[in-house]
Amino acid sequence: MDTGQLILQLELSRHPEGGWYRETYRSTEKITANGLPERYDSARSFGTAIYFLLESGDFSSFHRLKSDEIWHFYSGATVHIYMISEDGSLSTLILGSKLEEGENFQAVIPANCWFAAEPAEGVFSLVGCTVAPGFDFADFELADRFALTAAYPQHTSLIARMTRQ
Ligand code: GUN
Repeated sequence: MDTGQLILQLELSRHPEGGWYRETYRSTEKITANGLPERYDSARSFGTAIYFLLESGDFSSFHRLKSDEIWHFYSGATVHIYMISEDGSLSTLILGSKLEEGENFQAVIPANCWFAAEPAEGVFSLVGCTVAPGFDFADFELADRFALTAAYPQHTSLIARMTRQ
């Protein structure tokens, strides 16, 4: 299938970070705010899952979440996930099916870590993303290019390439 067919078949919509997505699971049960750490402003679903598609040449721009997120590889190109932790260290997670080349079917992005992602080769990447406590746009922050560059000047060129302004 090409990306157009995948978008139709999986009923994907544009995501604000880039790429295409559809939420496929949201637990019916919720954790109340008093059962969550203070950074969450209200109740959250136990967990959520989405399909997430990056077309060739597209990217997920730098953003961060209040919860850990797990990416699951499904199909297409290997994905490079760039993570900048609070101390400024950069790491690259390689999500893909070539286990013999050190790729991983799953990658964990810790809460509060700035991250961005792109297909490593010239085709789409289809992945799943799961979050617990469940995803809420109130817990999602797109990076401002200038603020992120000021905080981590050692990563200026990567931040410029993986943000939209
Ligand atoms: N629902 C809407 N956007 C997202 C996202 O970026 N990650 C997850 N897991 N769920 C979402």
